[in-house]
Amino acid sequence: MPETHFLLKTDSTNRVAFEWAESGARHGDAIIAEMQSAGRGRLRRHWHSPVGKGMYCSIIVKPSIDIQKYPQITLTAGLAVSNALDKICHCASLVKWPNDIFLGGKKIGGILTESSLNVASGPFSIVGIGLNINNDHFDFPKEIEKVATSVFLETGKAHNIREIFEGVRDELLHEISMLELDDFAGILQRWKEKDALKGRVVRWVTPTGAVVCGRPAGPNSEGRLIVQDEDGQCHEVISGDISIAGRMK
Ligand code: BTN
Repeated sequence: MPETHFLLKTDSTNRVAFEWAESGARHGDAIIAEMQSAGRGRLRRHWHSPVGKGMYCSIIVKPSIDIQKYPQITLTAGLAVSNALDKICHCASLVKWPNDIFLGGKKIGGILTESSLNVASGPFSIVGIGLNINNDHFDFPKEIEKVATSVFLETGKAHNIREIFEGVRDELLHEISMLELDDFAGILQRWKEKDALKGRVVRWVTPTGAVVCGRPAGPNSEGRLIVQDEDGQCHEVISGDISIAGRMK
């Protein structure tokens, strides 16, 4: 059975999990904290982690897959988290490339995957998951108030954070076993059914600051998002921010 460490407070569960993985944690072992003082988000952003309101966990995975396939873990994790949330909270969440979970048109959670690909010491990936569960409007800082939501705000019900964690961990380990069976195509197909960008026009700010507007064609077989601009040119989105610019005509 995987082991879970429950912490009252930490800086970042991803940091703690990384250290644990380096010193011999096993596949499926996890850290969950009631609050984080320095929760890490994608693109070096801060993840707001108030006590008792959200789920802040990091699950260590050591899948038996080629290290070239490790980038597939982020989309796989997004699908797993969204599926778990739907089952436990009776909602219909969506996934937004590469690592966001959406509900009611707003961000309800995010995933930060950090990997160590050192084959000698054994590669591993830390799947860090932050979900807004019982937050009310006033629990969000001003700068994210309009774009963030919680399960409580969308369903009108408070939920048990530990129960959600257990569901998320089980679902993640299940989807990772699908990756081990070499079924990323199946994962991608199910991911696309939940794609929040389907039928939208998106705006991509490239790492150099250029802006590309176009229609997303979904992630390709490597998990990279393809955006077709107004001139029909296809762009492979490697990193940066994707925002929804409108609906497709
Ligand atoms: C994002 O959307 O930018 C990803 C956010 C990931 C936040 C989670 S909270 C638990 C884990 N520990 C961290 O420091 N970050 C992740």
